[in-house]
Amino acid sequence: EAYNEKYRPQYHFTPPAMWMNDPNGMVYFQGEYHLFYQYHPEGITWGPMHWGHAVSTDLVHWEHLSIALKPDHNGFIFSGSAVVDWSDTSGFFSGQPGLVAMFTHADQYPESERPRQRQSLAYSADKGRTWVMYEGNPVLCNEQITDFRDPKVFWYTAGGHWVMVVAAGDRIQMYTSSNLKDWTYASEFGAAEGSHDGVWECPDLIELPVEGKDGISKWVLIVSIGDHPELPEGSRTQYFIGSFNGYSFMSESSDNSVLWLDYGRDNYAGVTWSDAHRDKQEKIFIGWMSNWKYANQTPTSTWRSAMTIPRELMLRETETGIRLVQTPIPELQKLRLHEQAVHQKNITISPGENPLEDMNGVTYELVCEMELGDASEVGFKLRTSPQEETVIGYQTASQTLYVDRSKSGESSFHHAFPCRHEVQVQPKKGRILFHIYVDHSSIEVFVNEGEVVITDQIFPNPASTGAELYVYGGESRVVSLSYFPLQSMYS
Ligand code: FRU
Repeated sequence: EAYNEKYRPQYHFTPPAMWMNDPNGMVYFQGEYHLFYQYHPEGITWGPMHWGHAVSTDLVHWEHLSIALKPDHNGFIFSGSAVVDWSDTSGFFSGQPGLVAMFTHADQYPESERPRQRQSLAYSADKGRTWVMYEGNPVLCNEQITDFRDPKVFWYTAGGHWVMVVAAGDRIQMYTSSNLKDWTYASEFGAAEGSHDGVWECPDLIELPVEGKDGISKWVLIVSIGDHPELPEGSRTQYFIGSFNGYSFMSESSDNSVLWLDYGRDNYAGVTWSDAHRDKQEKIFIGWMSNWKYANQTPTSTWRSAMTIPRELMLRETETGIRLVQTPIPELQKLRLHEQAVHQKNITISPGENPLEDMNGVTYELVCEMELGDASEVGFKLRTSPQEETVIGYQTASQTLYVDRSKSGESSFHHAFPCRHEVQVQPKKGRILFHIYVDHSSIEVFVNEGEVVITDQIFPNPASTGAELYVYGGESRVVSLSYFPLQSMYS
């Protein structure tokens, strides 16, 4: 297949055709990374949910497999997770390891008046190629709560039991189990914490090391919050840092300020891979690169929505406290077209100059360390043409990073789409390090090695291929700049 329709990302995961939302069931098993996703195979808007499925050996190139889970008499298949049941605690695999998916069965609306959301299981003994619905479904109900969904399950090694975190309206509930089938309520978290601008969805609870602090780790609870019709941000993702004792999570935040995982508009419902072991115990995260505010209206034709690039999650001690940091997985570097790359070092630039003048491209990566110097603002204008630009700017006096996509291209499909958003970031010794990924319909901006991230969809004309590195108000120094055209994952 060609995968060359207008706006089709060339190195971000997309479904071959039709609608996709949340990433689901990510698990690494026997050399393969599995990615399932909320899928509507009959249309390019949200509808009766299935789990689409793809596998990869490198998290960069994906092989599409057939639909893994389809609606049945218990309802649609909403979001959830998958684990390797290494010691066959479930008894599904006659003593061998196998894959167990845990997801929400949602009543087919409007057939039922008050649709229920209940947690169910499916299992696979053949590396995820075929799935059996457990005959005891659903395994966990809570009919007091209407929004009860998106179970994320993990093995708690210290206690030797399974833990499920699941969204329950305005809070997260935790349950434990020894066999994945029988679940006992353990605790809840969040009714009075964090942002409640929308319903809570898609939790994940992970343990992460603090960079450079040998042996110190903390637990991070990731919680997505749904769209609020009156707020411009739409759906977004917050996180909490704290501790976990196998049954309950305690936040360590002293004030109640909200920690956002991403300051852009298009990173939602993201969670991490199960059983993927990395050198430094990082977790691998992927998010749905869209926003419920306008997800059903984005201007693509044969498919709708992409995932973010996979990112490694870590914790880092910063001036403002311990924070979650996200960096692009190193595997993506194999897409770099080194022969066409451009490197520059130690050049002073003045207002009006543009070291990227000769670059033209749609799919590329920029790594640039800027010494701010006397400039009032430094930044990039990407995917430019006389009519279009996407601006990534850093204003030195206010120490704010912003993305402005108000002239980025097609945007009339929703009034909230054209916008500018910003976040405070402190320079490091007078410098800002930008790491930017550009594709046919997105930009992802990582600043200061993942301390702040802005992920945004854009829909520029395919002919808007210009790039600019600019300074305003005074001179700055480019300490180093690398421009890597990226190969398509389909080539
Ligand atoms: C998040 C979400 C989940 C739900 C799924 C339905 O985007 O609303 O809470 O399970 O999408 O597709």
